Amino acid sequence: MQCDLLTLFPDMVKSAVSYSIVGRAQAKGLVTIRVHNIREFSEDRHRVADDTSYGGGAGMVLKAEPIFRAIDALGQERSCLRIIVPSPQGVTFTQRLARDLSHESRRLVWICGHYEGIDERVKSRLEPEEVSIGDYVLTGGELSALVMIDAAARLVAGVVGDPASVEQDSFSVPLLDFPHYTKPHTVRGYPVPAVLLSGNHAAVRRWRRKEALRNTYCKRPDLLREASLTREDLELLSDISQEVNKEHRCVRGEDFNHESASTA
Ligand code: ADE
Repeated sequence: MQCDLLTLFPDMVKSAVSYSIVGRAQAKGLVTIRVHNIREFSEDRHRVADDTSYGGGAGMVLKAEPIFRAIDALGQERSCLRIIVPSPQGVTFTQRLARDLSHESRRLVWICGHYEGIDERVKSRLEPEEVSIGDYVLTGGELSALVMIDAAARLVAGVVGDPASVEQDSFSVPLLDFPHYTKPHTVRGYPVPAVLLSGNHAAVRRWRRKEALRNTYCKRPDLLREASLTREDLELLSDISQEVNKEHRCVRGEDFNHESASTA
């Protein structure tokens, strides 16, 4: 996965991608992340890359020309680039889009706007994809681009040591994850569920599946309608609904009717 990030704040981005799994993925050569300072492509000797908005109003707008120059400096045909503008107006970023980016053979380019946004002619000429990471407004596109890079990089083959952990995590299969525990087995009086210490692999697998279903039933019952459920899943869900009804916990799970759900 080859990424280029155009930003006014290169240090903010460079630091974030140097840690943990994304940092190691770059060290292994599985992911390349180049960060470009838009100011360096300014025609202006003061390296100004933004200006006031035509028509008036508060806030600054990123100028088009420095962005066009930065794109030209990548030295690639437009058809070899997949250009993304993070924006609250964009399509919503999902696990499906993360997977798609992780398989992309073109160079991925994020243009990170700040302040009031980017001169519209960048969009007219480059026709980027606009992608939102949620219905709220951030001060700039850097954090959004980092979210997308992080989510996509971990799906690149070889980046995460155990492929099973990527396959099983929330949203790869549209179920939420099961709870995880680590040592010591009792923390401030809270013990680990006994089954996890039993060494019985079949029982651990069934417990994890049930707890993933319970999490999904309680927190995101809408996902259960899309999940391909086995007969065992439906039995587990029937137990879960009785258990939570008895405990009077987890109101949202009532949105899912396990009796009318179909099996895979
Ligand atoms: N830039 C500002 N807000 C954003 C959002 N919600 N998603 C993506 N980019 C943004």
